[in-house]
Amino acid sequence: MFKFHMPTKVIVGENCVTTNPQELIIGTRALIVTGKSSGKKSGALDDVISVLENEKIPYHVYDKVENNPEINDMIKGGIFARECQADFIISIGGGSPMDAAKAIGVYATNEVNEGFQPYDIFTGKYKNKPLPMVAIPTTSGTGSEVTPYSILTLHKEKTKRSFSCVDCFFKTAFLDGRYTISLPLQVARNTAVDAMCHLIEGYTNKKASPSSDYMALEGLRIIGKHLNALENGNLDINACTELLWASSLGGIVISQTGTTIVHSMGYALTYFCDIPHGMANGYLVYEYLKRVDSVRVSNCLCALGIKSLENFKEYLKKILPRVRNFNEKEIIDWSEISIKARNVASCPYEVTREMEIEIYKSSLM
Ligand SMILES: [Fe+2]
Repeated sequence: MFKFHMPTKVIVGENCVTTNPQELIIGTRALIVTGKSSGKKSGALDDVISVLENEKIPYHVYDKVENNPEINDMIKGGIFARECQADFIISIGGGSPMDAAKAIGVYATNEVNEGFQPYDIFTGKYKNKPLPMVAIPTTSGTGSEVTPYSILTLHKEKTKRSFSCVDCFFKTAFLDGRYTISLPLQVARNTAVDAMCHLIEGYTNKKASPSSDYMALEGLRIIGKHLNALENGNLDINACTELLWASSLGGIVISQTGTTIVHSMGYALTYFCDIPHGMANGYLVYEYLKRVDSVRVSNCLCALGIKSLENFKEYLKKILPRVRNFNEKEIIDWSEISIKARNVASCPYEVTREMEIEIYKSSLM
């Protein structure tokens, strides 16, 4: 038995925001949630504002979203949304602004008080539905525009934790390669590797199903078409739009399957060493795959158009530079946290803390 549920409408193509105002405006007063620069630099914020002004929809911009959003800032965002009396959210940016929008949407309608404590967000059950939201991704990696997940940073636990709620699916996601074409090359590479990991981890996941398999291999096939452009830095508008779609396919896949230890082990690299999320996953995915059933691995490589697992390793090495050295002590500390992650159980093989230490060592040292 398997289920497939993905309620987000996805619109793909150049100028899809300005040519579909009725899909963008899903309320009477908008809160735009974005990062300090992602909305402006990509050109997406200008497009959104021009549509809202044309349609005379009042709006406020909340552009205080940092990378790896932290729970207290989300609560503040919820307070701001209530002060503005926003009744819908437009999220513009990479994974962080999209994850932030979902959390702000929950805190906007569920005030933190005695009956609703900050960490209650992780239960996924709320008295009031979150504000309705639409998303405009400005990176092609996270897939958050089509998932019900939001990943928040918890300083107390020194890690990240996700919540999911069916009402946190965006109503519509707008995928326009114009918004990602001017990304710095390393950001484009890191995010593409994140998308690739979602597809691979979904395809090799214990919870994989016929529908997730079909989309995972199609997403990998699309990324495979653009591996050379990602390496050489000559991504054109067509490549950018296709990579956005592949990234959304990755999001749809992990909405059904979840991720694996690549992600939970990668969180430590991001949390403790500030290594970008996709880069962290890219460091670990080869060692993860080495332990997976060979048929599933060959299917992934075939879809990508890569001959062998060793060639895959070489490719990742070329596009993901080493930004730091690692030592055994920190690896042992990280494994203590990462082995407790829920997605350990989704791996296609049994994972022990010793195995995680081995994977970290072989990947990083
Ligand atoms: Fe990811």
